[in-house]
Amino acid sequence: MKVAIYIDQPEILKRYKPVNSHTHKGIQGHALIIGGSYGKIGAVSLSSKACLKTGCGLVTVFIPRCGYKIVQTANPEVMVLTDLSVKYITRIAFDFVPQAIGIGPGIGRDIETHTALHRFVKTNKTPLVIDADALTILSQNQQWLTFLPEKTILTPHQKELERLIGEWDSVAEKFEKTVAFSKQNNFVIVMKGAPTYIIDGETIYKNTTGNAALATAGTGDVLTGMITSLLAQSYEPVDAAILGVYLHGLTADIALPKTGYQAFIASDVIKNIGKAYL
Ligand code: APR
Ligand code: MG
Repeated sequence: MKVAIYIDQPEILKRYKPVNSHTHKGIQGHALIIGGSYGKIGAVSLSSKACLKTGCGLVTVFIPRCGYKIVQTANPEVMVLTDLSVKYITRIAFDFVPQAIGIGPGIGRDIETHTALHRFVKTNKTPLVIDADALTILSQNQQWLTFLPEKTILTPHQKELERLIGEWDSVAEKFEKTVAFSKQNNFVIVMKGAPTYIIDGETIYKNTTGNAALATAGTGDVLTGMITSLLAQSYEPVDAAILGVYLHGLTADIALPKTGYQAFIASDVIKNIGKAYL
């Protein structure tokens, strides 16, 4: 297995771009988060809030109609577009050009959502982060992966990775297969776990932040929002993935003395993004 590059503070400072004092929200990037389904609107609510807190100027969500009041109330800074369907995403349509799109948190696997996703990937040209059930749906037909933009960022946990690359017998084989998959499709793979690795073709990065407090519902959805935000702020895809994973882990390291492992929840990641940036 190739030696991994450790992502620590010096590696982050090489990549980090401070905010210019003359900037305005139009320059800071407009991100779109697509997701949610009946009972899983929280995933997209968390993801969109994390997206804003990571620094992009504007965030819009595209969700089923049942989530309208929920997201507007939870996150007044986020703009909300809705599908025609009440419970699921059935047809993805929006009338602006975002700088980055994150798709998947809470999206579910309704049959109409499959169709909506397949239509979407055929025409989309915007830089993408793909997570959760959007990964599961797309991994059912590898041909759909060929439509994705170069350096699309995929953020699978172990089970989602297995659906993408198939089973492995050893850790070495898991890395071999993920590297081959990343090279073949020209994707950036965020291989989530303890620790998380970022794989960009032959290059493997190992994150050095984070702890077991992150093993709680919704932290993956928050990570998707953070990486999408960085992508919308014009970071190169691999740098958006590296910086997002590092900051996400650092929030848990910062919060741990106050919350302990048990009381830490996904909202605590969001609360501590500001401190992680310092
Ligand atoms: N140490 C460090 N980091 C950890 C640990 C740990 N012990 N456990 C989890 N994490 C981190 C992972 O690296 C990842 O960034 O927490 C995050 C968990 O992400 P997901 O597994 O996607 O979990 P979640 O956000 O709850 O997913 C919500 O989406 O992907 C689907 O099937 C998933 O239904 C679930 C939903
Ligand atoms: Mg997840």
